[in-house]
Amino acid sequence: MKRPIAEFGPTACYIPTKVATNADFEQMFDTSDEWILERTGIRERHWASDEETIAFMATEASKRALDEAGLTPEDVDAIVVGTASWDRLLPSQACDIQAVLGATNAAAFDVGAACSGFLYAVSVAEGMIASGTGEQILVIGAERLTRIADYTDRSTAILFGDGAGVVLMRPATDGTRGILSIYLKTDGRLGDLLYRSGGGSLQPPGEVMEREHGYFIKMAGREVFKHAVRLMADACDQALRRAGLTVDDIDLLIPHQANIRIIEATAKRAGIPKEKVYINVDRFGNTSAASIPIALDEAVRAGRIGPGSIVLLVAFGGGLTWASIVIRW
Ligand SMILES: CC(C)(COP(=O)(O)OP(=O)(O)OC[C@H]1O[C@@H](n2cnc3c(N)ncnc32)[C@H](O)[C@@H]1OP(=O)(O)O)[C@@H](O)C(=O)NCCC(=O)NCCS
Repeated sequence: MKRPIAEFGPTACYIPTKVATNADFEQMFDTSDEWILERTGIRERHWASDEETIAFMATEASKRALDEAGLTPEDVDAIVVGTASWDRLLPSQACDIQAVLGATNAAAFDVGAACSGFLYAVSVAEGMIASGTGEQILVIGAERLTRIADYTDRSTAILFGDGAGVVLMRPATDGTRGILSIYLKTDGRLGDLLYRSGGGSLQPPGEVMEREHGYFIKMAGREVFKHAVRLMADACDQALRRAGLTVDDIDLLIPHQANIRIIEATAKRAGIPKEKVYINVDRFGNTSAASIPIALDEAVRAGRIGPGSIVLLVAFGGGLTWASIVIRW
C-alpha cells in the first residue's frame, strides 16, 4: 500500500471548565501536591459537569472542526470514536455523538483500545478512506474518566481528567502530505495490569462488583510504567522505520499524556530532545484516548505544527495496547 492515502484536516478540542488541583485531593485522602507533582507531573485536571457528557464534549469539538473545514454534519461519512469511559454501554458512544451532532449520513462506531484508542481509530479511518468507504471522517478521542475513577484509591484517582479531541480525516490531497506510517501492537496477556471488571456480563452489577469496586479503573501502576516506557520508545522506532525516516527528521513528538516521567523516559530512550516533545499532562492529567487529539489541537493552534512538519504520535494503554503514527502535516 502506497502512502499517503489520508491526511489530517482541521483539529479541535473541548475541555470542561471545572479544574481540580492537587490540593483538592488533599481533602480526600492522604496525599500532597508535592507527591503528585513529583511522581506524575500533574498539577491539575479538568472535571466534566453532569451536562458535559462525552456525547456533548465530542459534539462541540466536532462542530468546531467541521466549521473550520467549511462542512456541515451532513457531510460526514463516518464517525470513529476511541473511548474507555462511554456515557452508556449500548449503543456505542459514536451513535450518541452522531445523534447529537446530527451527522445523519455518517456510519458511527467505537474502537476499543483504551488510551491507544485514538491512534487505532485513525488507522481504521485511513483504511476506510483507502477502500473508498468514506471521505470525510471524524476521528474522536473523548473521555469522562473522572466518573469511573476510584476515589478511595489514591494511586489512580489523582491521574485522570476529562475532555474530547477530534481530527477531520480526508483523502490525501497531494503525494507528500498525510499519514506516512502506522504501527499498532497489542499484548492481551497483560490485560490484568489495567482493567475495569464491573458492569459487563462477567461481573454484572451486584454485591461482588460493589465489594470489589469493580466499576472503577484498577491499575498496577509500577508495572504499567515499566512497560509503557519500553514499548512507547520501541513504537517510535517502528513508525519511523516504516516511514523511512530517523529521529532527526521529527519536528514534534506528541506522546500519550499519562505521566511526565513516562514521557521524558520515552523521549530519552527514543533519542528525541526535550524541546521537540509536546507536554500538557501538567494541565490535563491522563485523558486516555482524548490525550493525543487534545495535545495535537493545542500544538496546531500554538503554531508548533505547520505545513510540512513531521509529527510523531505515540500512545500506550490498557490491553495492553500501543501505537504510533508518523504524519507529514
Ligand atoms: C501511579 C504512579 C504515579 C504511582 O507512582 P509509583 O512511584 O509507581 O508509586 P507506587 O505505586 O510504587 O507507590 C509508592 C508509594 O506511594 C504511595 N502512594 C500512591 N499514591 C499516592 C498518592 N496519591 N499520594 C501519596 N502517596 C501515594 C503508595 O501507597 C506507596 O506507599 P508505600 O511504599 O508505603 O506502599 C505510577 O506508578 C504511574 O504513573 N504509573 C503509570 C500510570 C499510568 O500513567 N498509567 C496509564 C498508562 S495509559
